Amino acid sequence: MRILMIGPPGAGKGTQGALIAAHFDIPRVVVGDLLRDHVARRTNLGRVVDGHLGRGELVPDEIMLCIVRQTLNATRAASSGYVIDGLPRTMAQARAAYKIATELDMSANVAVHLRAEDKELTRRLLARAALEHRSDDTEQVIRHRLDLYQQVTQPIIAWFAQRGILVSVDAMRPVGEVGREILAALELMRPPAGHIPARVRRPVDLTGLGARCAQT
Ligand code: AP5
Repeated sequence: MRILMIGPPGAGKGTQGALIAAHFDIPRVVVGDLLRDHVARRTNLGRVVDGHLGRGELVPDEIMLCIVRQTLNATRAASSGYVIDGLPRTMAQARAAYKIATELDMSANVAVHLRAEDKELTRRLLARAALEHRSDDTEQVIRHRLDLYQQVTQPIIAWFAQRGILVSVDAMRPVGEVGREILAALELMRPPAGHIPARVRRPVDLTGLGARCAQT
């Protein structure tokens, strides 16, 4: 299974992406975590993207597409499947990432779309802020992230639907209920075991990813 997670901030992309990756035993890439890790390590990429993350702005497409290529190459070396959380977020990213993935024979066969209302999303993110202190989990920045999602990311959903890969789920319900519905839908779409390429499963080392992407 090659799966993209899409949905507004706080919809549960990380929460459900982890469940899916464990269920299907496939590597998971969390783009936000990758970027925050670079910020924490003060790498070149981290210094470039720090302000974007703090303000809730999207990181420029050129940097993200460099990361896409590296991510797909790294996952391809280890597995025929993946869960990618956080990509694409702009139509330009969607089209370019599709082209790169097709060249590598790694294009997604499912996009899991999590739907939820802004009021509930804000509640979840402010609750997380009390525990985790993410720089973008403030009321003002959350508002901006939600607006950006509506304006820039939401249009990609219709494109996924046209490609016939969209699975759209009501994410307003409790975590377990949402997860069960997603796994049931994905099980129906899972390729028969005999069709899965017998590629050896190895852990994917993501620590070096993005290291050269700040120069793009
Ligand atoms: P990223 O880290 O991806 O942030 P986000 O999209 O805002 O998503 P969140 O992690 O806040 O929410 P989530 O949907 O994963 O929900 P979660 O499971 O964590 O990206 C951060 C930044 O990186 C972006 O703003 C941008 O700057 C940059 N970036 C990333 N990708 C980019 C790209 N492609 N292009 C350009 N820039 C990019 O859950 C949230 C909380 O809710 C948790 O506390 C969880 O426990 C709780 N929760 C989850 N589900 C439920 C439920 N069903 N009921 C109750 N609580 C729940």
